[in-house]
Amino acid sequence: MEISFKDKVALVTGAASGIGLATAKAFARAGAAVALADINADAARIEATHLADAGYRAVGIGCNVAHLDEVEAMVKEIVVRFGRLDVAFNNAGIQNKLAETADATPEDFDRVMGVNLRGVWNCMKAELTQMRAQGNGAIVNCSSLGGLVGGAQRGNYHAAKHGVLGLTKSAALEYAQRNIRVNAVCPGLIWTPMADQMVAGGQKEALDGMLLAIPMGRHGKPEEIANAVLWLSSDAASYVTGQSISVDGGFVMR
Ligand SMILES: NC(=O)c1ccc[n+]([C@@H]2O[C@H](COP(=O)([O-])OP(=O)(O)OC[C@H]3O[C@@H](n4cnc5c(N)ncnc54)[C@H](O)[C@@H]3O)[C@@H](O)[C@H]2O)c1
Repeated sequence: MEISFKDKVALVTGAASGIGLATAKAFARAGAAVALADINADAARIEATHLADAGYRAVGIGCNVAHLDEVEAMVKEIVVRFGRLDVAFNNAGIQNKLAETADATPEDFDRVMGVNLRGVWNCMKAELTQMRAQGNGAIVNCSSLGGLVGGAQRGNYHAAKHGVLGLTKSAALEYAQRNIRVNAVCPGLIWTPMADQMVAGGQKEALDGMLLAIPMGRHGKPEEIANAVLWLSSDAASYVTGQSISVDGGFVMR
């Protein structure tokens, strides 16, 4: 089975770092023209320039996924530049501030929901408008093991990531007969700058505890999520829609 994205156009949000960056690079290597979108516009443009310098087709776009107008402008820019949008990985996400529910703030709830759930909704809305018009598409949303199980002091994050799966299944139903597939990936503990931030924020002990609970006994690599995203986005997964794949070393199966 060969997975190729030759002549396809792919969008990755949160593409300046971690899982998003690894996936954007994988799409480029598989032949796609890639748009790297990130709230950190400079970093997205620098990473796109590296890909372009290596001979790939890539553009970096500044975009805060929490704002629908920015997301719509981003999709428009991709279509102007590359002519279409075949594949999108809605990956941008942030952590919540650790707090049990009675102590969590409305501001943190709105901040996390705004990026992790509304951000995915914004992206799907703009992407599906384009994909519906062109008559094809594949979307992969980034949920989490937090979309499948609860997490003490992480309610805002886990609620958003559960919500991503609801949006995924609903859109998959809507477009199942219109040549557009919508799936999700649920990463486990993947070592990225987000994990570094968690350590810096005093969560090292919690991460060490999680590591002990991973059946494979190790963290995942961003490239291992990218592999699942590329398969779900490709024609090799042509009969797969509305699904979430856990890529977590076996964490949630226990
Ligand atoms: N790393 C893990 O262990 C893990 C586990 C499960 C799920 N995830 C999910 O994977 C995704 C990527 O995480 P990561 O570990 O690569 O994180 P990361 O922090 O390395 O990268 C996230 C990227 O998203 C960008 N971003 C943040 N807010 C944004 C916004 N409003 N608009 C556009 N871009 C924005 C950041 O600038 C950054 O480049 C997230 O959705 C995260 O929740 C990660």
